[in-house]
Order: sequence, then C-alpha cells, then structure tokens
Amino acid sequence: MPIPVILDCDPGHDDAMAILLAVAHPAIDLRAVATVAGNQTVEKTALNARRMLSLAGVTGVPVAAGCDRPLAAPLEIGDYVHGESGLDGPAFGEPSVPLDPRHGVDLIHDTLAAAAEPVTVVAIGPLTNIATLLRRHPEDRERIREVVIMGGSTDRGNHTPYAEFNVYADPEAAAEVLGSGVPTTWVGLNVSHQALVTADVLARIEALGTPLARVCVELLTFFGSTYHETWGFPAPPLHDPITVAYLIDPTVMTYERVGLRVELDGPHTRGATVADLHRRMDWEPNANVGIGLDRDRFWDLMIGAIEALGRAS
Ligand code: BDR
Ligand code: CA
Repeated sequence: MPIPVILDCDPGHDDAMAILLAVAHPAIDLRAVATVAGNQTVEKTALNARRMLSLAGVTGVPVAAGCDRPLAAPLEIGDYVHGESGLDGPAFGEPSVPLDPRHGVDLIHDTLAAAAEPVTVVAIGPLTNIATLLRRHPEDRERIREVVIMGGSTDRGNHTPYAEFNVYADPEAAAEVLGSGVPTTWVGLNVSHQALVTADVLARIEALGTPLARVCVELLTFFGSTYHETWGFPAPPLHDPITVAYLIDPTVMTYERVGLRVELDGPHTRGATVADLHRRMDWEPNANVGIGLDRDRFWDLMIGAIEALGRAS
C-alpha cells in the first residue's frame, strides 16, 4: 500500500525536486501540499509548488498557502540561495494547477481528518504550519504517523555558523513540533551534504533529454551557482528530497535515536539543533536523527523520478 503523505514545503529548488519525487514514485500517495514562508514569501512558495505540480502533469493534489511568517521570529527569507522568485533559473509559464482557497494549515487539518489511517507529514521548510496545526488541533497528533523533517544538523549550520535554515527560520515552531509527542525523523545538513549534485549527476539528468529534465538542469545549475557564491561548495546539496527517498526506501538513510534539542536562547547559536549523539547528557532519546546516506540509491530514486515523469508528460 502506498504511504499517505502531506508535503509541507517552501519551494525552493530542492523542495521542487522533492515534489517531483513524491508525485512520481508509486510508494507515495501524495494527498496535499501546503506551503510556508521560508525560501521566499508564502505567496511565492505556493506559486512555485503549483508550477512544479503543473510541470509534472499532476492536477489532483490540492495546494494551499499557509503561514506567512514565523510564530515569534521576524521573517527571514532564503532569497540569497533561491533567488527573487524562489525558483530562479528556468522560465515558467502560468501553472495549470489552481491555488486551493483554504489556509495551508486548514488544508493539512482537513486532509488528516479525512484520512482513514494516520498520515505521514513531510516537512521541508520552516515548521510554522505544523506547529500552528498542533496548537489549533492537538487531536491531530494521533492522525500523524510521523513528521519527517529536513532540518537541523549534527555538525554546523548554513544560515548561521551553527543553525540550519529551516530550524533557524522558526526555532519556536521546531521546538514545539519536537516536543509535541508526534514521532519525528530529522534529515539534517550532516546527511544532505552527502547528496551533492555533482557534474556526473547533472549529466545523468541532462541525458534524459526530456523538457522536464531540462527544467531540472536549469534549476540545479542556478542552485549550484548560489551555493558556490555563498559557501564555496563545488556542487550544491539536494537536501529536501532525501526525506521522501527515505520514506520510499528506508535503507537510503541510517539514523540514530537520540536526545535532541532546539537552541532558542543562544545569542550566536539560536536555531541550532543539539543532538546528543554520544549520550553525554541526561536526555531521553526523543527523535530519529539521520546520519548516513546511500548516495547511489538516493540518486537512482531521484533521477528515476525525473525520468518517469518526463516519459509521462
Ligand atoms: C533547507 O533550507 C532551504 O534552503 C532548503 O530548501 C532546505 O529545506 C536547507 O537548509
Ligand atoms: Ca525547503
């Protein structure tokens, strides 16, 4: 049986690829897409989600715009990585997928309430929508099988020296989701920096020769340029789709069950995640924290998705 999934995202180049993987693979039953302010404003992230679903030829999945700012923190967007549109690189036409008039948090709630079984939430932007959902509808905790999150790091950060962008952007939301009692799995930078879009990966996508593959190459080339300018990376890390790949095939990522905290107060470390990998603290293990990545398997899944969607469109 395919896994029922709600995707909460802020596309974003790597979110865009996560959308493609989620709609392409038969192991995933994508029921709804909510967007959040993060890589760009919520209006732009919603437009970008509609663009990607339209490109993939998927019309039956509702897309709604959720929270337009963090719970408490001021809004900081990731335009220095994702550009003015949030998906700079290719030229997009008008999306055929409409915007659902509901608030993104309501869409998530309605989708959970309508499901016959618990649903997995994949959260690959700041956690504002999910924390808001759990505040408004505490009963939804039982309706969520797990939240698989791209966020945090067991090493250092990217947006600040110690904080990864998604957690930094709304640390209060991340802490609330972590403390909610809903099971969480965290794909941090320590994992995603193993998924670099190297020249051989880009060549494999280009060789597919489809219009969708071309758009992906243009997206990933832009993403590579900002990663190079900002952090000097030789190739950009494709963070977000690892969450979906892990659901499709759990052998893609190894993890450890450890004590995890979100730093809320540190003047220089706010938004950092602190994973007690060596059991130095008196913390109950409360989260699954990603460690290792099967890079080959990950790319086979990701490139296979672009290939399958390209054939179908
Ligand atoms: C995360 O922040 C965004 O730039 C990406 O979309 C990803 O979700 C990486 O820190
Ligand atoms: Ca993202």
